[in-house]
Amino acid sequence: MCGIVGYVGFRDCTDVLMDALSKLEYRGYDSAGIAVFENDEIKVAKSKGRLADLAEKMKKEGKPAGHSGIGHTRWATHGEPSDINSHPHSGERVTIVHNGIIENYKALKEFLVKEGCCFKSDTDTEVVAQLLDYYYDGDPIATISCVTKELEGSYALGVIFADFPDTVFAIRRESPLIVGIGDKESFIASDVTAILRYTKNYYLLEHDEIAVLSRYSTSIYDLHYHKLNKELKTADWDISAAEKGGYEHFMLKEIFEQPEAVKTTITPRITDGLPDLRECGITMEKLASFKNIFVVACGTAMHAGVVGRYVIEKLARIPVNVEIASEFRYREPIVSEGDLVIIISQSGETADSLAALRLAKSLGAETLAIVNAKGSSIAREADMLIYTHAGPEIAVASTKAYMVQIAVMYLFAFELALAKGMTDEAECRRLTGLLLKTPDIIQDVLKNKKETQYIASGLISADSLLYIGRGLDYALSMEGSLKLKEISYIHSESYAAGELKHGTISLISDGTPVIAVATQSNLFDKTISNIKEVKARGAKVILVCRDSYVPDKDVADYKFGLPDDIEDLLMPMAAVVPLQLIAYYTSVLRGNDVDKPRNLAKSVTVE
Ligand code: AGP
Repeated sequence: MCGIVGYVGFRDCTDVLMDALSKLEYRGYDSAGIAVFENDEIKVAKSKGRLADLAEKMKKEGKPAGHSGIGHTRWATHGEPSDINSHPHSGERVTIVHNGIIENYKALKEFLVKEGCCFKSDTDTEVVAQLLDYYYDGDPIATISCVTKELEGSYALGVIFADFPDTVFAIRRESPLIVGIGDKESFIASDVTAILRYTKNYYLLEHDEIAVLSRYSTSIYDLHYHKLNKELKTADWDISAAEKGGYEHFMLKEIFEQPEAVKTTITPRITDGLPDLRECGITMEKLASFKNIFVVACGTAMHAGVVGRYVIEKLARIPVNVEIASEFRYREPIVSEGDLVIIISQSGETADSLAALRLAKSLGAETLAIVNAKGSSIAREADMLIYTHAGPEIAVASTKAYMVQIAVMYLFAFELALAKGMTDEAECRRLTGLLLKTPDIIQDVLKNKKETQYIASGLISADSLLYIGRGLDYALSMEGSLKLKEISYIHSESYAAGELKHGTISLISDGTPVIAVATQSNLFDKTISNIKEVKARGAKVILVCRDSYVPDKDVADYKFGLPDDIEDLLMPMAAVVPLQLIAYYTSVLRGNDVDKPRNLAKSVTVE
């Protein structure tokens, strides 16, 4: 959840660390700090609040000057956000930054206190710093190796030793970490986007590998001090992908990147008009063999799974269960050989999703990961892998990742239906052709962003609202509602429109806003009846439906029209756009920090 960086080279280290941290702030933003070797002495600057608060503090108090150091941006787990609890944390000779959770920190702390150590903070991280210090015998690698054997939990650590100036050590287990290699400079970072300004070349650090970055060389070792020869990777994103590019917020930029993201994700997986997922390890024979499908994910990624369920069950006629990963992993799921478990994740590092993947594998199921972040843990551990090519998603509220996740679910469902003999090649080609047209459709819908601005202006003082729909429209409502609440802080619920009268309709009173999605022809009349029921009880209804439908006054107060020429099945790809934009503008108009909503972090690496 936190972001860590490290630098050794010829540039001003503080500037590099601050710049790199600014690209990682999406991972956590309740405090930040850096430690830099200044004339061979470690200087620490840290502060509660955003990176901007740390910059402000350094403006007043002076910034550390040097060419090597480590930095951190925090999402608090142990100890409230405060100056004291901010990273880096230090022992006498060791200073560290940490992303992850040390599960046995209490026992380790008790041991250290008995040994006479004094603690300043409430964090699990300080325990690691003190433990390193306790065991330090002048050999950093041996010490790191010995200490990590005592740690339970997850960590990516950046470590500096007072007597090894201009050297940064790093190690990881579970939490992600890359080592960037530039010309006469090197970096560590939780995510490659942090260093794209300086280099695109990097090593992916594996579990329990130790990186040593010094002025003259960068080496990677295993815990037994064997030097490793690792493959140098090249990022295929450039720096503009991690910058706002003229948009006011990353979220808006990412919403507008959706047509391109869908194109880049889908087009290379189509051969002769048919889905072709062989490069992802998925063959027709394999697809034909699956008996049950489970889709396991969290948040928005789970909502993409719900859309996938409707599409797969409709086309391929295989039962699909969609599960929240944090529930799946602890409820002893009935999953076995012959089943397919699909894990969807933008970051590829979500702790619950990763644990669910491991559980599914241990139960004998085949696993398929649909992941955006290259080289992430989920991507590496799944049996089959479909990368979504959305580029880096920086805003905490996921938009383009959701869009490409559902695009992949469609493609997968089409191929599965073919493999299962539930459709023929001609129909599969037709559907694939329609999917290829969705980037243009999304582009068209984006042209109507002004309308969503207007809708948002009517929502800003609402205390609570409802999203309703049936079938695929209900699946979409779930995502619309999550998007709104996470960035506008307005309470909202999504509800199956037909279920309202079984209790929830009592929430409707004069002026309660209801966003109703009605795009599915076979359910249209039923949904309209449900909408009339809420309208009759005073709801203010915003209807998202096809352009050609003209609602009467007893149905809707406002209509957002979608192009008429979209097939029902693919409607979610168009209909999600106004829902994303409504959430975005509501947040903007309420003066919220759209890209970094309170209490949240982009990459949830704790359970
Ligand atoms: C989406 O807007 C959220 N911030 C969140 O629900 C997210 O989708 C969830 O945490 C899963 O993340 P992942 O896709 O990286 O696994």
